Amino acid sequence: MHLPDLNVAKDRKKSENKYINLEENYSKVFQNKKYFLRTYGCQMNVHDSEAIRSYLETLGLTNTENLEEANVVVLNTCAIRENARDKVMGFLGKCKYLKKNRDDFKIVLLGCMAEQPDVIDDIQKNHQYIDIVIGTHNLYDLPKLLLQEFNKQQIEVYSNSDEIIEGMNYTRDSKITAWVNIMYGCDKFCTYCIVPYTRGRERSRKLESIIAEVKDLKKNGYKEVTLLGQNVNAYGKDIGETFSHLLECVAKTGIERVRFVTSHPWNFTDEMIDVIAKYDNIMPYIHLPLQSGSDNILKKMNRRYTKKEYLELFNKMKERIPGVAITTDIIVGFPNESDADFEETLDVVRTCKYDGAYTFIFSPREGTPAAKMEDKIPMRVKEERLHKLNELVNYYSNQNNQKLLNKVVEVLILGDSEKDASKVYGYTDTMKLVNVEGPKSIIGKIVKVKITDAKSFSLDGEYLEEKVAN
Ligand code: 5AD
Ligand code: SF4
Repeated sequence: MHLPDLNVAKDRKKSENKYINLEENYSKVFQNKKYFLRTYGCQMNVHDSEAIRSYLETLGLTNTENLEEANVVVLNTCAIRENARDKVMGFLGKCKYLKKNRDDFKIVLLGCMAEQPDVIDDIQKNHQYIDIVIGTHNLYDLPKLLLQEFNKQQIEVYSNSDEIIEGMNYTRDSKITAWVNIMYGCDKFCTYCIVPYTRGRERSRKLESIIAEVKDLKKNGYKEVTLLGQNVNAYGKDIGETFSHLLECVAKTGIERVRFVTSHPWNFTDEMIDVIAKYDNIMPYIHLPLQSGSDNILKKMNRRYTKKEYLELFNKMKERIPGVAITTDIIVGFPNESDADFEETLDVVRTCKYDGAYTFIFSPREGTPAAKMEDKIPMRVKEERLHKLNELVNYYSNQNNQKLLNKVVEVLILGDSEKDASKVYGYTDTMKLVNVEGPKSIIGKIVKVKITDAKSFSLDGEYLEEKVAN
């Protein structure tokens, strides 16, 4: 049994990265058994779940979408806001009920929630029906723990984080577009954020390993890779590399589309902007979290930039990268955010006219500095601010989308449209969702599409022709 510890998680002492090669060959001992996997949270979790699927399938388990016929239920959890936790707790209630009449029903909770000591405390006291709990640093323990015989709850959560895992197998969700981890963890310690505790120290994968993975994906027909990190522009600091160099090397593999998430406005260098502008296969789309437009709040958030610096960077990106689309994250209701502070945020939104924004009400996370800050702002005010902000954000994303009406854009077609099964869907180079009228045979291809309708969150279009290779 290993329990999480926020003091250990906070520690940034440098030690050697440990590389783990997952070469063990587990036999298919779970013949005729099924797993149900549910993923909460960010792209990092979505990609971790692709590794988890691979572990489960190596053991012989097969996927089911029907919870009732599952033998192993795995919840890959998120800790970023309280509502993520509430959703997991609600779903666990259902699992607990199902488990009552079953003796071959194992419940596994893993991911970010497992790294929170208060969650583990609650699980030990009130949720003994959960069989296995695993943290973010040792997901690879899942097969071992599932194979062990035990009659009490197993909790294996490590808070120290110097490992880099190589040799991972993934059961990828798509055959067209793939996630590629370039780094793990975050060292920024924004005062509201739990990620530096749940995901640990910033550590970069070797450039050669990343390039080898991208080349392999390309060889296997993948059209697009998204480089993943909590803070991609901090890539390489620990190994004498830079994100701009990595990005250039990835572009040079010749894979058709390269994306990356998430960028931090602090330390987003001119070199990075130049590389994005230079290569046609690096998509002109940047997610650039603002969080707040008020210098006072930015300082309390420990964001390391001012409103002016953010806007300078934003303008530079717009000037140097032709047609770039920029989206953002914004938090309202940070402790004691005043009306004037909030107005500053609205002012930045009006100036930047974002292509899109994810907006949140501040959610105190136990163990983070902001959770201890005094806050006199009532929830009603925070909700009003969120509403007002959303109206503004939607207005601009709609306006930006309207500009595409009747234009011809390139879309990578990913599959059947969720809205209308007779259509297909895909994304423009600027990451706009398009539902396309066209033959199913264009799935997996980059095609030219004429935009026929534009809404706040998606576009409609008609297939014209395949992109001509240059
Ligand atoms: N409360 C609300 N939103 C948060 N985020 C991170 N931590 C919190 C929190 N405690 C938001 C930030 C971040 C996004 C992934 O989630 O906007 O960029
Ligand atoms: Fe959290 Fe800030 Fe790190 Fe993003 S940069 S993961 S908001 S601490």
